[in-house]
Amino acid sequence: MPNAASREKPTLMALRGNSPGTSASIISRRGFVLTGALAVVTLFLGALAVQAQISPGALSHPHQDFSGATQCTSCHAVGKGSADLKCKECHTEIAAEISTGRGLHSRFANKQDCSKCHSEHNGEDFPLIHWQPSLKGFDHNQTGYRLEGKHAGIDCNQCHTAVHIQASVKPLIKMKDLRKTFLGLSPDCVTCHEDPHRGQLGANCVQCHNFVDWKSATKIDHSKTRFPLTGLHAQVACGRARAGSGTPRR
Ligand code: HEC
Ligand code: HEC
Ligand code: HEC
Ligand code: HEC
Ligand code: HEC
Ligand code: HEC
Repeated sequence: MPNAASREKPTLMALRGNSPGTSASIISRRGFVLTGALAVVTLFLGALAVQAQISPGALSHPHQDFSGATQCTSCHAVGKGSADLKCKECHTEIAAEISTGRGLHSRFANKQDCSKCHSEHNGEDFPLIHWQPSLKGFDHNQTGYRLEGKHAGIDCNQCHTAVHIQASVKPLIKMKDLRKTFLGLSPDCVTCHEDPHRGQLGANCVQCHNFVDWKSATKIDHSKTRFPLTGLHAQVACGRARAGSGTPRR
């Protein structure tokens, strides 16, 4: 947790805009709008400051675009008390996971309580994400997708790359550099592996394959597959039907 001393020092007085002349000296139409905005901010800041008895510090680097006195309400709900945060209104990628029960966030017991895990106002360099125990040591079972066989122990970014992200999720993701996001992968093998059977053996690859070696496919009883081999097909060597390679697509 951040300690109070490391927090950057406040600019509350300046933000309140209550130094003499701030609003009075501005007479243009634009000035009127600015004065209106300051009034809203002043009311809001007053409410927050009274409750918290502390002043906010600088926002983290990923949220720099939202620093400034007029942007407090991007995150803080006005009129509902300072505890209400509006993170999900902007982070629709997380909202979507929570509402559909998919992904890591949907599994957290305190999932609505964003600031329990993502603290703010601790300065630009304070990390918003805290990996437990570390990024590399992250227990992938927490996502509901176990890393088995050759999948265990490889670098996160061999799988978590921009090209593997589902097209339907991509536009929702706020992370500007898609190499850094962990969202949007599908567990379907064909997300990352070519299907040399070109769909003819179905999408359930683990019916015949494991996570160690594509070659050691279990012997197939073709009469039990969706494509029973009859007549001429039965005489075609398996090899013809399995051209291609297991190299993941990049
Ligand atoms: C990017 C989102 C974001 C923006 C923008 C933002 N805040 Fe915050 N603010 C937070 C979060 C998250 C917390 C809770 C921090 C924690 O628990 O560590 C917080 C906490 C606070 C608190 C302490 C409240 C408490 O109960 O401890 C105050 C005061 C505050 N913010 C004021 C402001 C002001 C004033 C602005 C505009 C200058 C602002 N915030 C802009 C996210 C934001
Ligand atoms: C108005 C939109 C907006 C709001 C509100 C907002 N965020 Fe963000 N957030 C962003 C954007 C944009 C990024 C990506 C920035 C980047 O990639 O440089 C981001 C990044 C993040 C990240 C990833 C940080 C990282 O290390 O890359 C986390 C975690 C996060 N936000 C949590 C929150 C929480 C919690 C709140 C509410 C207190 C919140 N955000 C409010 C827009 C928003
Ligand atoms: C129990 C802790 C916890 C809570 C509560 C939590 N998060 Fe997170 N959040 C994490 C962890 C761990 C990660 C890193 C894994 C990841 O990226 O999915 C993360 C990542 C993120 C990211 C970056 C996602 C990416 O990879 O692009 C965003 C944005 C975010 N959280 C927003 C939120 C919002 C909004 C809420 C509240 C609705 C919230 N979080 C609640 C722990 C939490
Ligand atoms: C073999 C490929 C693979 C590797 C390696 C891998 N992941 Fe994943 N990861 C996935 C897949 C697939 C999913 C989506 C699972 C699902 O939705 O059922 C996922 C999901 C996640 C999620 C949840 C995202 C969400 O939508 O909430 C996080 C967080 C995550 N991985 C972190 C990591 C980290 C950290 C590492 C490295 C230590 C890593 N992964 C390594 C394949 C991989
Ligand atoms: C999100 C991406 C991703 C998904 C989804 C995925 N894999 Fe992988 N898989 C990888 C990566 C990356 C490697 C390691 C790359 C390498 O060996 O060069 C790998 C390696 C393998 C290997 C070892 C290959 C070898 O020659 O060493 C097998 C077998 C395998 N995966 C099977 C599967 C099966 C079966 C599924 C579906 C149930 C699946 N994978 C889903 C990314 C993925
Ligand atoms: C009904 C069983 C069956 C299903 C389902 C199946 N395969 Fe196969 N696959 C095989 C057999 C048999 C081989 C040949 C193994 C050998 O070389 O001895 C094979 C070979 C492969 C190879 C290795 C090709 C080579 O020559 O290097 C890859 C890669 C592969 N399958 C991927 C997939 C993927 C991806 C899926 C799912 C979309 C899938 N398979 C579904 C039975 C199946």
